[in-house]
This record gives sequence, structure tokens and C-alpha cells, in this order.
Amino acid sequence: MCGIVAYIGPKEAYPIILKGLKRLEYRGYDSSGVALLNDGLKVYKKKGRVADLEESLIGKDLHAHAGIGHTRWATHGEPSDRNAHPHSSASGRLAMIHNGIIENYTQLKNELIKKGYTFTSDTDTEVLLNFIEDIQTNNNCELEEAIRIALKRVVGAYVIVLLDRDHPDTIIAARKGSPLVIGIGKGEHFLASDASPIIEYTKEVVYVNDYELAIIKKDELVLKNLGNEKITPFVQKLDLELAALEKGGYDHFMLKEIFEQPDTIFDCLRGRLDLGNATITMAGVQNNIEQLRNAQRIIMIACGTSWHAGLVAEYVFEELCRIPVEVEYASEFRYRNPVVNKGDVIFAISQSGETADTIVAIEKAKDQGAFIFGVVNVVGSSIARISQAGAYSHAGPEIGVASTKAFTGQLVVLIMIALKIAFEKKTIDESRYVHLLNELHAVPEKVKEILLLDEHIKKLAKKYADAKDALYLGRGYNFPIALEGSLKLKEISYIPAAGYPAGEMKHGPIALVDESLPVIFVATKGTHHEKIISNIQEIKARKGKVIAVISEGDDVIQNLADDVIKMPEADELISPILNVIPLQLLAYYIGIAKGYDVDKPRNLAKSVTVE
Ligand code: F6R
Repeated sequence: MCGIVAYIGPKEAYPIILKGLKRLEYRGYDSSGVALLNDGLKVYKKKGRVADLEESLIGKDLHAHAGIGHTRWATHGEPSDRNAHPHSSASGRLAMIHNGIIENYTQLKNELIKKGYTFTSDTDTEVLLNFIEDIQTNNNCELEEAIRIALKRVVGAYVIVLLDRDHPDTIIAARKGSPLVIGIGKGEHFLASDASPIIEYTKEVVYVNDYELAIIKKDELVLKNLGNEKITPFVQKLDLELAALEKGGYDHFMLKEIFEQPDTIFDCLRGRLDLGNATITMAGVQNNIEQLRNAQRIIMIACGTSWHAGLVAEYVFEELCRIPVEVEYASEFRYRNPVVNKGDVIFAISQSGETADTIVAIEKAKDQGAFIFGVVNVVGSSIARISQAGAYSHAGPEIGVASTKAFTGQLVVLIMIALKIAFEKKTIDESRYVHLLNELHAVPEKVKEILLLDEHIKKLAKKYADAKDALYLGRGYNFPIALEGSLKLKEISYIPAAGYPAGEMKHGPIALVDESLPVIFVATKGTHHEKIISNIQEIKARKGKVIAVISEGDDVIQNLADDVIKMPEADELISPILNVIPLQLLAYYIGIAKGYDVDKPRNLAKSVTVE
């Protein structure tokens, strides 16, 4: 939530910051701004996209060798010029950008109001900035000291980055709970919420940890804790190419990412699945096999699309490993008083690895003695670091706000983990194990086949784009895919869509059905096939429009449905990985048909680092 970029060094800061903000726009896009240090501190900000800021700055003197920039996803205060970051302190000496939420900002604000401070914005950021300046003035201390004192009072999550007019050679940043990466160049430093703005300048990075303060000059990086003790920066090499961050000829990142799935799934399997020897190699599982095999219970903790992956995993783990599984929304789990036992294994599922609710939920479970296994896409992210073991989904950078390739990556990883545990526990017989390995191995080729349906799905999208609402139904392994399909449609096309287990339909949702309601069935062959045929008949009897995702050759449903999308044969345990793909395309093309910006849907942000 919110993207931050900063630069200090010999180059012009503004073009670097602007380009970085465009890369980070997926994190928030309701307003943006920059502060530049050159002969004083200049702050420019604008409601709207980064492109609006860029246009408003044409002709301005933007020369500077140090600067900070921000693209916002509003929390406190509506999107507007005055609530945009950077904020300036009361004296005008300091400028600050912030990603996160200061929970006790009202209390701090009241203290400042009593001292005579007034505020020009509705943000928690301006409060924290003036709180820092007030400490600096009263204690007559350096900014670094004032920040340390202030942060000891702050409740909440933050990355803050400050410029001080009186110290133009220094940028100071601090982190708790929100991500911050520092890129180390030759005589220059870059700061950003993730590595994407940094990658074209340097591959040497330092991930700042919670409660750390970075004091950065062009040729010096000092890390300290809040107790003013120096910490040796841990420099890592980024394994990321610039091309992975660009659209590569596609109209949108979302479409590019949908079409990347044969490759991302292949990458996820590569080096892990060995068909010849019928093995799965995953160090995170192997090194902790006792813990995993003996788990009394597994709890999947995640949000949104990642939660849907956890729901599929519930079906898979229970069937293959015979371990009871619960699936928890991180935002509910963290505020409950959940029963967590020592033998419990938590799977933390997250694309970004930075989702605030998931982080707090797993920290809570860890404190209560559970073992945390991360299934994360972004290498080096917070959840990856908090987890005691893990497996990356290797989907590469996902920039489209609606998650697509990260989801299929999560499913593949979770199924491999379940197969490995089941094999070790001997809860799966060998022929089924080998069959499922073969089925997994075949997924990338089958995804290629499914993507050939692109034109057909585009036509369906045009036909149904004016729907007022929609219902997605599935059973068993494909009930979570109905939920995921409906979430994609809501996010991208703003059409209210509900997802249900098909068997639950008669307990309420069937009241919605009339001749105008499209009902999307995920109905490929499997255990519940006869039942789902009955459900389709129930919808047709009430004149609903049925679009069914079916197995190739399923004449029965083909004859019942208004439209069908034919999928290659697959074991039903593997089928969710395939069945979600036409639903991703359907949502994408409906969003396009309605003229929406599918990569940046309204009100959303890619990485939800606020609670
Ligand atoms: C939906 C979507 C969100 C995320 C959710 C969790 O398309 O992207 O629902 O899945 O915010 O994010 P991560 O996986 O980064 O923890």
C-alpha cells in the first residue's frame, strides 16, 4: 500500500524517482508527489496518477541530486492534492513520505494541537512528521535522534523517509512493518518499497528490518537500531531481470501474467519434480519433514486470492495427508483468541509476502508455538523472513493488481508439498502418487492449450459484459475456483458476483436466478459431476444463463449450457490449476469490454500493508 522511492547521488534525482513511482504505481494510485533538495526543499504533489504529476511538473525546475517520491493509496483522508505525500513540516525544514498507518495519531495530534500546531492535511503522516520536528526543536538534537525518540512513541506500521533542508547530503529512513529496500550503487543509493525501481541501476540491495533506521549519504549507508547501536548491513544480490517488470508487447500486465502461466508453472516445478525418479525435492519440506509429517493440524492463513489457494489446499491436504486443515482469513485470525497448539503447522500463503494482516496473524501463531511454513512469491519479503521454513512459488514479479499467475504458482507449490508429506507419511499409494506427479508435470502444456481459447473467451466476455450481477458455482476442489472466479470479476469489472459451493445454491442464492443472471459453473469431470449436472438443470429450469467450464467431450453439459469452455482432461485434484485460467481471461475481457483500467482497478492496491 503506497509506493515510496528515494535517490541520493550524482545523477538527477527526479527522473529516477518518477520512473520508480511508475513501477510502484500498482501499490497505490490515487495521488503522488516528490520532494527535491536543491537550494532549499521543493515539494510537488498532485491528485491522480503518476502521469498527472509528471504533466503538472513540465517546465518546473526539477534539478536535484537528492529526492523522495510517493504514490498513495489513501488511508487517512480522501485522495487530494493536500493529502498527497510528501508532507512538509510546520517550519518547512523537513519533508517526509510514509507507507503504513500510525494508529495512535489522534493522540499525538491532540498533543501537538495543544502546543499550537495546525495541520494542512487529514493524514497521520503529517502528524508524525510534526511530532518528529517538535522533538527535534525541543531537544535541540539531530534529526536522527528526534526520529528515534518519536518512533518509540509510535504505534502502528511505517516506512518513513525524510529529507532535511539543513542536511542536503543525507536521507533518513526507518521501518516497522512495511517494506523497504536500499539499493547500493557506485557513489549513490536508492530506496524503494520493492526492488523494481532499483533493478536497472544496481543488483546489490539491503532489506531493512523492523525497528531499523538507515542514515544514507551518496557514498555511505549506516544502519542502526532504535537504541542507536550500529548494525552491519546484510547485502544481497537481486535475482531479477528488468524485462520481467515490463509489459513485453501485451496491452496489460494482467494479460501478460495470465499468458506467462505455462512458463511460471514450469519454473515452479523445475528442479523440484523429477518424473524419472518419481521424487519431489523441496528443501523447506525435506529439512522439516518430522514437523510436517507429525502435524496435529494444519492452519492455512492468508487473504483474498491467496486465501482461495489455501482453501484448495484444504481439500488436497486432507485427502492426501489425512491431516485436519483449517483455512483462516488472516484479518479474522489475528483479532480472535484462536486455539493454537505446539504441534500445529501454519501455512502462510502470500504473493507479496508483505500483507500486514497475514504478517501479524502468523507472528501471533508463532508466539503460541506453531511452526510457520511460508508459501510466498516475493523472495526476501517479510513473510518469507518470518517463516521458519518455506517454498517460493517462483511466479516472478506480479504487477497487475488482480492476482493470476501467483495463484496458480501457489496451487502448484501447495500440491507438491502435500504430495511429498503424503509420500513420507505413506497416506498415498504409490500408483496414485506417480499418477499425480505425471498430472502435475503435464500442467504447463495443458495451460498452453487453454490459452488458445482466448478468442472464444473474448467473445463470451462481450456477450455477458452488460450483466448486472453474476453467480459462480463449483463443488469440491473447484468450489474455491468459483470463489476466485467471482473475485476476479468483481475486482476487474465491478460487476457484483457471488461464489458458492454449487450444493449450497438451493439454500439461498437460487433466489437470485432469473433470465438475466449469468451463472458460471466450474463443472469439469470429477466425483461430483452428476450432482453438478443436477445443479445446472436447476438453474436452467429457472431460465438462468449457464456458462460452464467443462471437460472436453462432456456432451451432457454442453447440451444443457448456453455457452461452454472446454478444458483438457485432468485429475480433479489438479483441475483447479487449469480451471481458474478461463475465469481469469473472462474477467479480464469483461473489464476491457467495459473500458476499465484492469491493471489498476479502483480502490485496490497490489500489496496491502495496512490493517
Ligand atoms: C486479488 C488479490 C488480493 C490478494 C490479497 C493477498 O486478486 O490480489 O486478494 O490476494 O490482498 O495478498 P498477498 O497474496 O500478497 O498476501
